[in-house]
Amino acid sequence: MKEIERIIRVDHAGERGAIGIYSAQLIVARVLYKDLVPVLEAMLLHEREHYATFNRLLNSRRIRHCYGLGLWAFGGAVLGTLTALLGRNAIWVCTNSIETTVLHHLEWQLVFLNKHDAEAYAAVLSIKSDEEEHREMGRSNGKESFLYKPIFWLVQRSTEFAIWLSTKL
Ligand SMILES: [Fe+2]
Ligand SMILES: [Fe+2]
Repeated sequence: MKEIERIIRVDHAGERGAIGIYSAQLIVARVLYKDLVPVLEAMLLHEREHYATFNRLLNSRRIRHCYGLGLWAFGGAVLGTLTALLGRNAIWVCTNSIETTVLHHLEWQLVFLNKHDAEAYAAVLSIKSDEEEHREMGRSNGKESFLYKPIFWLVQRSTEFAIWLSTKL
C-alpha cells in the first residue's frame, strides 16, 4: 500500500535527519560542552539503530528511499550546528521540539499501521520509547528563556516542513 511505503520512507529519512542533528551537536559539544558528550552519544546511537531498522524494512520490501535523504542529512547538520552554537539550552529546546513533533507523527502512524501492517507497526513501535526518552531529556534539561519559544517554534516548523516535503519526494 502506498501509504505504508510513504510512512516507512519518511521515518527512514527522519532518522537520517536526527543522525545529522546529533552528530553536529556532538562535534560542537566536544569543544564547548564536554559534559553533554555522553548523553548526545547515547542519543546518536539510538538514531543510528532507528535508521538501520527502517533501512532493513525498505530493503526487504524493495521500497526506494526518499529522494530528499541528502537534504535531511544536510538540514539536520545545519540545525544541529546552529542550535549547539546558540548554547547548551538551545540543544535541549531543539531536542524537545523535534521529538515532540516526531512523536506526534508516530502516534497516528501506529494507529494506522496497527490496522494494516504488523511488521511496520512493530518497527515504529520499537523506536517510540527511545524518542520519548529523548523528549524527556529535552524537557527536563531545557531552561525557560526568551529564546526558548522561538527556537521551539522554528525547529518544529522546519521538522513539519521536512516531513511534508518527504511525502512528495
Ligand atoms: Fe529516532
Ligand atoms: Fe530521537
